[in-house]
Amino acid sequence: MAHQWRGVIREYFDRLPFTESDPIVTLGEGGTPLIEAPALAKLLDVGSVHLKFEGMNPTGSFKDRGMTTAVSKAKGKGAKAVIAASTGNTSAAAAAYAVKAGMTSVVLVPAGKISWGKLSQAVAHKAQILQVRGNFDDCLRLARELSENYPVFLVNSVNPDRLQGQKTASFEVVDVLGEAPDLHAMPLGNAGNISAYHLGYKEELEIGRIKQLPKLFGIQAAGAAPFIQGSPVSKPETIATAIRIGNPASWDLAQEAKRNTDGGFGSVSDKEILWMHRFLSQECGVFVEPSSATGAAGLFKLSQKGELPKANTVVITVTGHGLKDPDWALKDERGRQIKPKRVAAQAASVAEVIGLERNK
Ligand code: F0G
Repeated sequence: MAHQWRGVIREYFDRLPFTESDPIVTLGEGGTPLIEAPALAKLLDVGSVHLKFEGMNPTGSFKDRGMTTAVSKAKGKGAKAVIAASTGNTSAAAAAYAVKAGMTSVVLVPAGKISWGKLSQAVAHKAQILQVRGNFDDCLRLARELSENYPVFLVNSVNPDRLQGQKTASFEVVDVLGEAPDLHAMPLGNAGNISAYHLGYKEELEIGRIKQLPKLFGIQAAGAAPFIQGSPVSKPETIATAIRIGNPASWDLAQEAKRNTDGGFGSVSDKEILWMHRFLSQECGVFVEPSSATGAAGLFKLSQKGELPKANTVVITVTGHGLKDPDWALKDERGRQIKPKRVAAQAASVAEVIGLERNK
């Protein structure tokens, strides 16, 4: 029988805190492609760029890596229900893995501020969805309080089991490149992901699979950039709803990731995010949700200012699939709705509309 990727727990069993008797709840997450993007390498003026396309996970974002570990651990502890605060992707993953585990899920999302693609996933996987009148930070405060006082398991990234799963993305990068990249960038929201990559790369260094840590860069949306401001932002605003977060939970871990790797934080405007969103789909063939374009947008901004550190190999994690939040792709540069032309069902009229001349 052909080999099938078994999900991150089984693929990296000896690198994760699991034993043979632990239940494993998996949807086959991980093993995502590292896609070369020469157009982006040219734009950034670096040797090579590889996009770690996390939209290829079962629910369409990197959250699945941490959800397999968190929900498996919760199941091992006898949990019947999980709870998560979310800007969308965590809710989709929590709902799907809860179904696989035979549990129920409750998700708290900021009212009116999650994309309908993600909402549809939580609905499809029968989560109890509550739209909180507030932002993500309010949702997380509530989820923590509820998990402390009621029989529901918290599966946000403040749960260390989440970072254990998410660190496997670093392992996969090293598996493919055979070494660490010089620089690795990603969007930065609640700061779980950059912390998990740091953890993963540190472990790779310890066991000698890499010789040095990549410089880790976390990029925020300008309207939701507490790491740039240096303190929490009370009213975060950005079209990149996945990272519309003002008070990141893994603040200290992210600061450590930056310091320890000689990396950096940056921020980009919504306009810069949407420009890169279009560049990735139109020049690299990779369709991501707008938030996921933030890492690449941040590096582009640094390179334009002449502040991008010299790098031969660059990895950029694009965190979620374009179909999660597709509305932005259906707008042109000026924000006008794109409507494909209607034609009669005849080859000659189609050829005329697209400007083709008949073969001689
Ligand atoms: N990109 C996407 C697509 C996300 O959904 C998130 C976070 C991030 C980047 C930022 O990662 O929080 O680890 O720094 N989404 C969370 C959610 C908050 O609820 O889905 P981070």
